[in-house]
Amino acid sequence: MNNFQFVNPVKIIFGKNTLENLPSVIPAGSKVLIIYGGGSIKRSGLLNEIKNTLKNYKLGEFGGIEPNPSYEKLMQAVEIIRSEKYNFLLAAGGGSVIDGTKFIAAAVPFMADDPWKIISEHIPVKKAVPFGTVLTLPATGSEMNNGAVITRKSLKSKLPFMSAAVFPKFSILDPVYTYTLPQKQIANGVVDAFIHVMEQYMTYPVNAKIQDRFSEGLLLTLIEEGPKALQNPQNYDVRANIMWAATLALNGLISSGVPQDWSTHMVGHEITSLYGLDHAQTLAIVFPSMLKVMKNEKQQKLLQYGNRIWDIDTNMPVEAQIDKAIQKTQSFFEEMGVKTHFSDYHLDKSVVEKIIDSLISHNMTKLGENGSVNPDIVRKVLNLSL
Ligand code: NZQ
Ligand code: ZN
Repeated sequence: MNNFQFVNPVKIIFGKNTLENLPSVIPAGSKVLIIYGGGSIKRSGLLNEIKNTLKNYKLGEFGGIEPNPSYEKLMQAVEIIRSEKYNFLLAAGGGSVIDGTKFIAAAVPFMADDPWKIISEHIPVKKAVPFGTVLTLPATGSEMNNGAVITRKSLKSKLPFMSAAVFPKFSILDPVYTYTLPQKQIANGVVDAFIHVMEQYMTYPVNAKIQDRFSEGLLLTLIEEGPKALQNPQNYDVRANIMWAATLALNGLISSGVPQDWSTHMVGHEITSLYGLDHAQTLAIVFPSMLKVMKNEKQQKLLQYGNRIWDIDTNMPVEAQIDKAIQKTQSFFEEMGVKTHFSDYHLDKSVVEKIIDSLISHNMTKLGENGSVNPDIVRKVLNLSL
């Protein structure tokens, strides 16, 4: 196991009717800006519930954060917060709203320069406006981590940043608020969480048994419960298991002391910023082909995964075990309804060089756990995904 430090300060408040805890976790007297997306929380009634629960606070609202939140939109909130002096933010929505809120929180006190430099020049964020979240879409893990992915539309750039200053103070996870998710978003969430686990697990062994078995538990849960959520969207236990799995998939625990990959994510971000596909759709396209191309570097973990997750017979030839493990993975995404080829999204081979150019322009040329996923490898991966 590699050396590591681990800290996660996010208070998780999980379960039915947990929204009522809000006043106990937002300091009394705060001026709170509720931040949300395109309106799902209005339609579901969540926005009204939040306002009722916080009736003793000074409240404002900022809606309209897009999926794949944009710098352009987020900066509007930054101006409002600076001028109206909000001192607590409450993000209510999915990963986009939470990521957007993280950027807003970091940008508000970042007065000296353009806050985009937090992302483009990796300027460390020293302070941020405190915020909490009410999660409505289990997928990204953003509710319990310190990362965010922001799009600058004018530059066609979708890039991540991380800072200890943007851990949420708390996150409320009530699985009931996920009942209103469209099928596509249920599926996206399960596939995203699955691939988060894989980006931290499917590398090379370092004899990290707990991290491996924890990851395998999360994968098995997502495989078992994902299809059930599509068939039976109001099954509380199914939703609860998926929600907690997605949070644990990317809260820093399973990545502690192990190598990490993230190449599929970095390629996926380019695809979203160029062609607008949902985050999970891009991952479902890239990941199976990434495994195929990188199967030698990942051989030992692929064999372990095949046997422990898909019950593949270890007496079969190694090549056959690996091929089967990859094929099972791809079939799972398809079973969830997330298509795995560019052609399924009406994209053809003309995308390949554009994606590669974009990766190069963002310095994403040495990806993967060994830094070996270079533009030539990505070209092979993308061509296999047509
Ligand atoms: O905007 P509203 O109206 O709320 O609708 C959203 C949106 O259209 C809808 N939705 C959310 N909860 C709902 C609901 N509709 C009905 N009922 C509900 N309960 O779902 C749509 C998608 O929402 P979005 O927040 O975009 O999805 P997701 O949670 O998958 O977040 C994706 C974003 O997170 C980033 C992705 O790159 C992408 O920008 N990621 C963030 C990570 C992180 N911070 O650690 C890691 C991930 O790998 C990922 O990159
Ligand atoms: Zn993701």
